[in-house]
Amino acid sequence: MNVAIGADHGGTTLKKIIIGFLKEKGHGTIDLGAQTYAPGDDYPDYARAVAMAIRQGKAERGILICGSGVGASVAANKFPGVRAAVCHDSFSAHQGVEDDDMNVLCLGERIIGPELAKEVAGFFLSARFSLAERHVRRLGKVKDIEKEFMKT
Ligand code: RB5
Repeated sequence: MNVAIGADHGGTTLKKIIIGFLKEKGHGTIDLGAQTYAPGDDYPDYARAVAMAIRQGKAERGILICGSGVGASVAANKFPGVRAAVCHDSFSAHQGVEDDDMNVLCLGERIIGPELAKEVAGFFLSARFSLAERHVRRLGKVKDIEKEFMKT
């Protein structure tokens, strides 16, 4: 699977670790920065880059890392077609895909350790959206909200 990944200064170190893990597991990675630690950079810029890679079909999934994962998820969810969430446990990481079609995983380097972060990323990437009627119906309602309130 092709995975777009981005991180601000709060997530630069964990990003390198996650990229190594993804490569080891045979995933394609699109590294959208930051390439070096830049204490003045802003998480919305990386959220934009990852969200656009998904919207343009360059990546099927995205991983965003900031200090907490929160700012990155708030910004990424402003992009139609992006369903981002902070997950620091394996259950949420796979169920978020299976039930909610989450396509961007957000991690907080200041919250989660590298080993759990790799496990969470692995569960996220192995999961597939369930085609159960109730999940399709709920996703349809989420998409209706996008259509009503977001310009595409
Ligand atoms: C940056 O210091 C920090 O605010 C950012 O990485 C992130 O945690 C925001 O949610």
